[in-house]
Amino acid sequence: MNWLTRIFSLGREDTWTSSAEEPGEHVEVSPFPTAAASRPGFAVSATALEGLTGRRGVGRARHVPAQAFTPSQPVSSIERFAGRSALLDRVIRAIEDQQLHVIIYGDRGIGKTSLMRVVAELAKSARYIVHFTSCGEQSEFSETFRSVASQIRLLYDGSLDPGDEDVERGGTLADRLPVGDFTASQLTEVLEGISGTRVLIMLDEFDRAESPRFRASIAELIKNLSDRSIRVQIMIAGVASNLTDLIAHIPSIRRNIIGIAVPNMDEDEIREMVTIANKNGGPAFLPAAVEALARVSAGLPYLAALIGQHAAIAAIEQQSPEVTADHVSVATERAAADILSRLSPLVTHSLRDERAREPGSLLWSCAADAIENDGLISSPALIAKLSDEGAAFKGLVLPVDGDPLERWQFIEDGVSSYIWLAVTADGEIARKPRC
Ligand SMILES: Nc1ncnc2c1ncn2[C@@H]1O[C@H](COP(=O)(O)OP(=O)(O)O)[C@@H](O)[C@H]1O
Ligand SMILES: [Mg+2]
Repeated sequence: MNWLTRIFSLGREDTWTSSAEEPGEHVEVSPFPTAAASRPGFAVSATALEGLTGRRGVGRARHVPAQAFTPSQPVSSIERFAGRSALLDRVIRAIEDQQLHVIIYGDRGIGKTSLMRVVAELAKSARYIVHFTSCGEQSEFSETFRSVASQIRLLYDGSLDPGDEDVERGGTLADRLPVGDFTASQLTEVLEGISGTRVLIMLDEFDRAESPRFRASIAELIKNLSDRSIRVQIMIAGVASNLTDLIAHIPSIRRNIIGIAVPNMDEDEIREMVTIANKNGGPAFLPAAVEALARVSAGLPYLAALIGQHAAIAAIEQQSPEVTADHVSVATERAAADILSRLSPLVTHSLRDERAREPGSLLWSCAADAIENDGLISSPALIAKLSDEGAAFKGLVLPVDGDPLERWQFIEDGVSSYIWLAVTADGEIARKPRC
């Protein structure tokens, strides 16, 4: 468990309950804004922000850059989804035409959840029953799939008569599952009857599900669903190594799945993100700002959204109607600081080393390489250098355990992005490393 996880795993009451929130206690709320003009303060009242999300507030939303770029939330509508047309088409063809189960993988922030959300939206409009769930450390098979089954009405159980009493009272497939835990085979029997619709089950953050039993049961379910042509498909998102584990349980499911890597975006796709954001509010990006953003974000949509949001805020702070390349430069620095604040003290300490921030240094080249290769340092030339010099970086980089390609990785998520942005913010804009 890292330090951040430890903080968030404290008991909720201990962390969040304040005495002023005791039931019945009256909390005096001062008129908004509370801060004196010279001090930092919130700029817009929370109730006004709520209003902006409704239809009537759309015009005013132009002043809220936070709504144009949402780095901490996945995109969930096709209107806000930039680029990725070929990828989206491939996923849809796999589901609709080939009736395969789909596994998408890639590094954090590359856009997996956004892709899943958009596929979910499109599938719903094509009348699929869609169940979206994010896996966690404690994910259990029975609990997850009981919740899926409770979304499917008995009306779609072809083995039942439409006049059946249970169908008429609006029962669901969950009513047909055994009480307590059940196996993949028992679930298969219940799902087998589905007719008149198709079901798409989406399991995001699959890598977080720690239980080998959970993963083995999903693999078995996928095999059963395929073997019996049941109208239920599964789409999984997660990191590649865990998906390999999934397949390792039952190698024969390889035939029934398609694995799709989510690559970095190209610069045109990042430009499209800006075009969409410009339509959704905030000051307009000048062409030079768009080019700077496309360059510094290195094809990672998360970085593009984070820097884009900071750049719009920087422009607003200066009361500029437009975002310039200078705003992007300030934003890059702020984005680096954001990322640094989430790293562990140990890593932060190691990053003080001058060599981490040198453009063209080994560590910087490794960061650039990792950003382009799903977080893994993959260039043979860099791997060879790391074998000689890697230990000098105080544990910032480590060889990937058991990797046949002998790749290396940074010790924590975010380190490569931080190094990349910190160097870029120092004025050394993104020339690709030569080795
Ligand atoms: N196709 C896209 N169009 C616009 N923004 C995107 C797109 N893909 C990702 N993003 C942005 O990048 C951020 C990270 O994406 P997300 O889907 O959460 O990645 P992942 O699930 O791989 O960690 C999101 O918050 C969103 O703002
Ligand atoms: Mg995600």
